[in-house]
Amino acid sequence: MAAEGVLVSKELVTRSAEETEALAERLARGLFPGVVIALDGELGAGKTCFVRGLARGLDAVDPVASPTYTLMHEYRGRLPLYHFDAWMQGREEAFLEGGGAEWLDAGGVAAVEWAERVREHLPEERISVRLAHRRDAGRTVRIEALGSDPTTARAQRLAELVRTLSSQSASADAHAE
Ligand SMILES: Nc1ncnc2c1ncn2[C@@H]1O[C@H](COP(=O)(O)OP(=O)(O)OP(=O)(O)O)[C@@H](O)[C@H]1O
Ligand SMILES: [Mg+2]
Repeated sequence: MAAEGVLVSKELVTRSAEETEALAERLARGLFPGVVIALDGELGAGKTCFVRGLARGLDAVDPVASPTYTLMHEYRGRLPLYHFDAWMQGREEAFLEGGGAEWLDAGGVAAVEWAERVREHLPEERISVRLAHRRDAGRTVRIEALGSDPTTARAQRLAELVRTLSSQSASADAHAE
């Protein structure tokens, strides 16, 4: 049975950074204003790599660098992409509490690395992406559509987005729950 708030959960495997980026790119093609993407996974798991793919899928031209030492990077594409990194938790929380959270709802798409650290500032309705290292250098990518009310049009759209997401690589195994 799905955990509370989980609308759709999917686990995919990527074999390279390029595949992770391509997966994010496909997800981004279906994104709509106001979607928050919460990224988690240990150091080097591929969070920034995933955001690079999101930017590409949103047709943002600027390259995405790690924003670890800045509060927020904005990339202009089909929709603006706001890239946060909550690695330095205290500072990021101060930023979000001091009005920065408005960016999460500014008509663009927000991607938050180390999202667990600022979880209380994130909307319940969001996409969660958890990346984990595999022994074979690939990554397990768990993507979930989260929301408290599965009956709203937005929640259904979010769920559909995750449901239809697949790994296009022949080497990747995928299953939806
Ligand atoms: N399947 C894969 N998916 C993503 N990255 C991969 C994969 N295989 C190898 N890599 C490599 O792992 C590294 C991931 O780095 P990235 O900066 O995206 O991680 P991160 O989770 O953002 O780390 P940090 O916690 O430092 O922000 C890159 O060097 C990338 O080339
Ligand atoms: Mg990073």
